[in-house]
Amino acid sequence: MKMWNGRFAKDENPAANAFNSSTSFDGRMWKQDILGSIAHAKMLGKQGIITEEESACLVTHLKEIYWDMEAGRLDFEPEDEDIHMFVERILTHRIGETGKKLHTARSRNDQVALDFRMYQKELIENIDKALYSLLEVLYRLACGHQDTVLPGFTHMQKAQPVLLAQHLLAYYQMFDRDRQRFADCLKRTDYMPLGAGALAGTTYNTDRQYLKEELGFSNLCTNSMDAVSDRDFAIEFLSCCSMAMMHLSRLCEELILWCSPDFGFIEMDDSYSTGSSIMPQKKNPDMAELIRGKTGRVYGDLMGLLTVMKSLPLAYNKDMQEDKEPVFDAHDTLTACLDMMQAMLSTMTVKKEAMAASAKSGFMNATDAADYLVSKGLAFRDCHEIIGKMVLYCISEGKNLEDLSLEEMKQFSDAFDEDVYEHIDILACIKAKKSEGSTSPESVKAQLDMIKEKESF
Ligand code: ARG
Repeated sequence: MKMWNGRFAKDENPAANAFNSSTSFDGRMWKQDILGSIAHAKMLGKQGIITEEESACLVTHLKEIYWDMEAGRLDFEPEDEDIHMFVERILTHRIGETGKKLHTARSRNDQVALDFRMYQKELIENIDKALYSLLEVLYRLACGHQDTVLPGFTHMQKAQPVLLAQHLLAYYQMFDRDRQRFADCLKRTDYMPLGAGALAGTTYNTDRQYLKEELGFSNLCTNSMDAVSDRDFAIEFLSCCSMAMMHLSRLCEELILWCSPDFGFIEMDDSYSTGSSIMPQKKNPDMAELIRGKTGRVYGDLMGLLTVMKSLPLAYNKDMQEDKEPVFDAHDTLTACLDMMQAMLSTMTVKKEAMAASAKSGFMNATDAADYLVSKGLAFRDCHEIIGKMVLYCISEGKNLEDLSLEEMKQFSDAFDEDVYEHIDILACIKAKKSEGSTSPESVKAQLDMIKEKESF
């Protein structure tokens, strides 16, 4: 029998009942639902809205339900429309009349908003931990590759040599900003909605401040209609998840390229690779590809909820029951991907020689050669043209810039001298960078020091 039976002459159609039910997914929030109810029951007693005995009885039995749930002793029934109805059904079944008083001064609308906010706070904590572990792996890897030379690309064309540490630290910065974004999202999630009732507030002398303290919130929702209608905290969460997945996906794309035989910059550990059912030689980076693919799924979660909320009038509408699955899915996907990325990075083999060899071809020192001519007094635009012509010449000769003799170089400009060779050495190009944040070993070391100062890795 339904809780709202009074108004109805007929039972709900079983198919409509199943269609309407959310227990299969909002059951995940059972802890939050019970904790929220315990705080509510205490507040009702404290405020004299119910007697102290009734309040104590509710609290005792809600705690028992909590333990029973923890021990897996309770099952959802098809008639339970959602987690809130489920808990109330068990409670009323166990203590009768008193159980029916729990819902005084409360609506499922403020109740679900409370559970969801409490749950999301936990999800943010999980993600923060996973991001932090990934940052630690990136930091350690960068520490170990302060002298590993890597060809840097723009437009997927060889551009300038960099240190592998610099490349890894770029990702460190992205994931560090992701952490900041989640921390910021937490601020707006951390608002306590109870007391809003269905939409207009309640006529009882409730103590919202008390509920806020009991449930560990930092703020109270200011407006009852906003409290039950707002889901932008969830959309913001999904946006943070999408951004982190986008960063993971970029890193995956590079790992996939780097372990393809034509690059051969890294080798994935066997335990994080797969073979082919037909081609015996294959070793595929499935984990990285899956992370890249799952990025689409998390973007879908974000777009899905944005679209659910679009045009919804105030206040609560049942459409909003569609808010939880994308949030759960994005959290589960992102944490799994963060863990997998961390495992891949800490087990892969970096092939330093292959990276260094690749950095030697492709005229990656051309900019530095132009800078060398600038140091001899020429204007940069002229130098650019001179080196461009030399590159063309080298291509036809099958040579690198540093393979040219001084006489050959002088045909392009008188300004060349014997000291050009030490300036266009690949490692010298890296070392010569002076700007703060550059790839020079000192700058990379400074970046690592800054991290060390901030984090306790
Ligand atoms: N299961 C519902 C949800 O997730 C709970 C709130 C239901 N409120 C209502 N008035 N039907 O949104």
